[in-house]
Amino acid sequence: MARLKVAVLISGRGSNLQALIDACVRPGFPAEISLVISNVAGVKGLERAQRAGIPARVIAHRDFAERADFDAAIDAALSKAGIELVCLAGFMRILGEAFVARWRDRLVNIHPSLMPAFKGLQTHERALAAGVRFTGCTVHFVRPAMDDGPIIVQAAVPVLPGDDAERLAARVLEAEHEAYPLALRLIAEGRVRVVAERVEIAGASEAPPGRMLNPQR
Ligand code: GRF
Repeated sequence: MARLKVAVLISGRGSNLQALIDACVRPGFPAEISLVISNVAGVKGLERAQRAGIPARVIAHRDFAERADFDAAIDAALSKAGIELVCLAGFMRILGEAFVARWRDRLVNIHPSLMPAFKGLQTHERALAAGVRFTGCTVHFVRPAMDDGPIIVQAAVPVLPGDDAERLAARVLEAEHEAYPLALRLIAEGRVRVVAERVEIAGASEAPPGRMLNPQR
């Protein structure tokens, strides 16, 4: 069966890009990464794409006077490469409404919180300040509002005594590296549908993970 053609948009380190690259090379994985776009030159994520033999481009937002022109340049690159799904992975620019509408339900993002909690930046600092016992990450379809849209996969991790933002971020990041490939696989298998702004997943496991308590006693 033809594999889903995916583009990954990045701005930096690209560890989620790496998780997606690693998933896509597994035999039988239903998606392939055909293009990586970074809005920043010289970042680690671009090296990762190059090492994996994936075409990579820099489209620098600074080169465009208007956001709409930047968005249009990205859209043109995606269309030219025949991209079917766009994965934002640490992409630090907000895409405009026209772009988001054009790619509706074909544009996904990963956010390092259990949405709808802690949208925006400094999620881990805010999770610690709020004293939540669990946090995690969310893969979701993109809507015009930031860190908003139908939720596809979430992974929860405990907040532990002695955590600082860095330790918590590292624990969440490990969960991101599992959640994003899972979401991509579900989408590429054609099992994900948005119905009334909520995601339905065909054939999802009947046995969800058990109850988690933190602390346990
Ligand atoms: C991740 O924490 C992701 O959830 C957030 O930005 C970070 C990107 O990290 N949107 P990386 O570039 O994938 O390593």
